[in-house]
Parts: sequence; structure tokens; C-alpha cells
Amino acid sequence: MKLTSRSVALVPLVATAAAVVVGATLIAPAPANAATTLGAAAQQSGRYFGTAVAANKLSDSTYTGILNREFDMVTAENEMKIDATEPNQNQFSYGNADRIVNHARNQGKRVRGHTLAWHSQQPGWMQNMSGTALRNAMLNHVTQVATYYRGKIYAWDVVNEAFADGSSGARRDSNLQRTGNDWIEAAFRAARAADPGAKLCYNDYNTDDWTHAKTQAVYRMVQDFKSRGVPIDCVGLQSHFNPQSPVPSNYQTTLQNFANLGVDVQITELDIEGSGSAQASNYDRVTRACLAVSRCTGITVWGIRDTDSWRASGTPLLFDGNGNKKAAYNSVLDALNAGGPGPTTTTTTTTTTTTTTTNNPGPGGCTASVSLNQWGEGFVATIKVTAGSSALRGWTVTTTLSNGTVTNSWSANRSGNSGTINWSNVDYNGSVAAGQSTEFGFQGTGSGSGLNPSCTAS
Ligand code: G3I
Repeated sequence: MKLTSRSVALVPLVATAAAVVVGATLIAPAPANAATTLGAAAQQSGRYFGTAVAANKLSDSTYTGILNREFDMVTAENEMKIDATEPNQNQFSYGNADRIVNHARNQGKRVRGHTLAWHSQQPGWMQNMSGTALRNAMLNHVTQVATYYRGKIYAWDVVNEAFADGSSGARRDSNLQRTGNDWIEAAFRAARAADPGAKLCYNDYNTDDWTHAKTQAVYRMVQDFKSRGVPIDCVGLQSHFNPQSPVPSNYQTTLQNFANLGVDVQITELDIEGSGSAQASNYDRVTRACLAVSRCTGITVWGIRDTDSWRASGTPLLFDGNGNKKAAYNSVLDALNAGGPGPTTTTTTTTTTTTTTTNNPGPGGCTASVSLNQWGEGFVATIKVTAGSSALRGWTVTTTLSNGTVTNSWSANRSGNSGTINWSNVDYNGSVAAGQSTEFGFQGTGSGSGLNPSCTAS
């Protein structure tokens, strides 16, 4: 067993654990032994340590040996991207993605889904689309893929790299962006509806330095989404570092500021070019920054051996081409063993329920159902209004909120924020064709149970 300063110091700590109470603060017990793999070391503080995996390397026994031993989270490096999963429109192809997902799950590892909507690695048919057709195709892709993997994905990179580099702080121009600025929130809502149990992340690079315009722009978008109840649970910082783009001195500040918005943060594609002690020291800094932020829930490196990397010549990973541990590996393992406050998790307490109230729609009538995401201190409710056998020209839904308060709502007018609340259509969603549906939603504190929505045509 490798002894670290932590494990040596541990002996007296454990022996006197009952007495280690300072005022009201209980010092958390340290692990009895330093863990010897990255995944096990990360788990000591409730975090994960993952890697990107390529399906065509799963037959390489050195590769799978390291994968199986060291990592407890897996991201498909290319196999879940749009060109891989929907090579022809509405023809879905999951062979290579399934090989990775099944390998991971058979080994008890979790999976990050990468990625549902992106300007890059689009199949040819999508590259040639625009406007409403592209918007609908993108939403269909998000819905189909997230539904196919429903229940198997820990977190989805719902949208990837949607902001421009440089000082503009603007969105990146792309065919998706040209469908309208709301394409990102539309993608998140579709992903939530398809897989309500998965964490939904926005993922980007060059968002590590808190002072950069791109970081600030992503921050403002997440802040806006949280304030309007757009479903977002996490922000992924890719964190590809090299001499031109080094680990910034304010990296931990960036992680903490995103976390303060009420989202998890994850380091999603870490690699740091270099070698020896300089590289090891940078890996140590990044690992410790995550450990210092309670909502930094895990780290993923973008490949296993240096030779597996998209930047192989920069030797940016934790194992050399022969699969040997590098100094950078030891620094990450030691930092993880040094621990940190555990991440705040919401998924374990989140429940999703859907109830339908049938109030005899009849000609001109309507029904309403609610899908509720409830966590400890709050909830998001999505109400679906469905027209009966005749078209609607307007509707009112009544809900009962006995033990909660609405803090935000969207796509409906409302009469109040607690108790009996009447919701009525806004300009653009009053007309609903016979048998068709529209949705509105709200976010609140407290409990969203017992909403019991009923719908009346107006
Ligand atoms: O598999 C084909 C092979 O058959 C062909 O001979 C060869 C010829 O170019 O291409 C191979 O496909 C390449 C694929 O990687 C697999 O190696 C693609 O050309 C190449 O474009 C692709 O690059 C990937 C890149 O994303 C594409 O944008 C990298 O592997 C992958 O690591 C990289 O990952 C991205 C994240 O998704 C998002 N963030 C940045 C990160 C690094 O660029």
C-alpha cells in the first residue's frame, strides 16, 4: 500500500475520533487507508473520477485493464455524438455507443452522455438544414437519444460549445444558433422531458478563467436559466490546458461561482500538456480546486494513455503510451486521498411523478397533467394541457399548492403564487388543435405534491 502523509497522520485521528469535536463542528473521519485507484480515491469524498473511452479500443487489454481498475465514470469520446447516433435522419445507430455504455455498466461504472446538441460533428443531412426544420430535427434528436438511454446516464452534456471564443461574450454563430437564441433552453427542456432522472449540463472549453468574456457569458446564461426555471443541473468545464492556455490562477473561483448559482460543476475533459513535475503540479492544482468546491462532483480526463489522446504529441494524460502511471497520476491520486468536503447531491432525493386529471374534455374541453421534479427544498412542475375532441381557443388550469410557493413560471399567466392558483394561456399557446397539447411550467420552493391540475376551455 502506498503511504501518504494523510494515511500516516490518520492513525491518531481514528483512535480519538469520538473526542474530535470543536464547538459544534464535527471533523469528518478520514479514510482508514489511502485508496489505490483514482475512482476509489474520489469516492472517499463522494465524487467520481472518469475517462473518455473509444469503442475501438475496448479490445485492447492494456487499455481495458486500466479502465476497469482506475475509473468509475465513462464518457464516450465520439460515439454518442450526433453524426454517430443519427447518421441518416430518423435512423438511429447506437452500436458503438452501446458497447461503451454496456462495458461501463457491466463494470458498475456510471456514464456521462456526450453530447446531444452541438454545432460540430453533425451528420451531413443536419449540416445542410436550417430554420424550423433544423430546430425540429435537433429537438427530435435530443428526445430520441435521451429516451433511448433513459435511466442509464448520470449526466448529459445537453448542449456543447455554444459560445464564441474571444472578447465578444456572444453566442457562437452556427446553424443551430440561427434557429433562434432559445435553441439551448429548448434542448434542455426536451432532454428533461425525455430523461427526467439525468443531470443536464451545459459543457464548454475556455471557460476556466473567471475573467474571460466567454466564462462570464456562460455564467449569465446559467443564471438566467436558473431564474426562469429552465431545467439545468450542471456546468461542465472541459479544461483542456497547454502552455498557451494554462490552468488559470482563479480556476477554483470559477468553479465556486458557477456552483453558487445552484448547479453542480464537473471537470469534463481534463488534459494538461507537459511532462514530469510541472505537469504533475498542474494536475494537483486542478484536482484540489475541485475538492475545495463542495458542488464539484467529479473529474473526467479526456483519455487514458498519452497515445489515446486527441493531443497525443502533448503527452497530456495520466498514463504513458505503455500504460505506466506518470508523475501526474500520483499527484492526482494523492490529492484525491487528501479529500475534501463531499459534493452536495440532489439526485438521490429527486423524484419525478406524473399524474393526469381527467375532467371529461368533451367537445371543446381539455385535460391537464403534471410532471413533477421534486428535490429536498424545491420543485419544478411541468403542466401539459391537452385539447379534447375540438380545438381550444384558450384555456385555464387551476392548481392547488398547499405547502409551497411559486418563484418562477413560464408560458402561462398566473393569479398568485400559493394556494389555489389559476393559470391561463399566453398569446402564443391558447390555440391548441383537437387532441394536441401545449405545456407551461413553474418552479417553486417547498413541496409541489398535490397540485391536482384541472383544465377548463375558455
Ligand atoms: O474514425 C475515423 C477513421 O476511420 C478515419 O480514418 C480518420 C481520418 O481522419 O478519422 C477518424 O475519426 C476521427 C475521430 O476523432 C476518431 O479518432 C475524426 O476524424 C476526428 O475528427 C475525431 O476527433 C474527435 C474530435 O472531438 C472531433 O471534434 C476527437 O477524437 C475527440 O477527442 C474530440 O473531442 C472533443 C469533445 O467532443 C468536445 N470538446 C473538445 C474535444 C477535443 O477536441
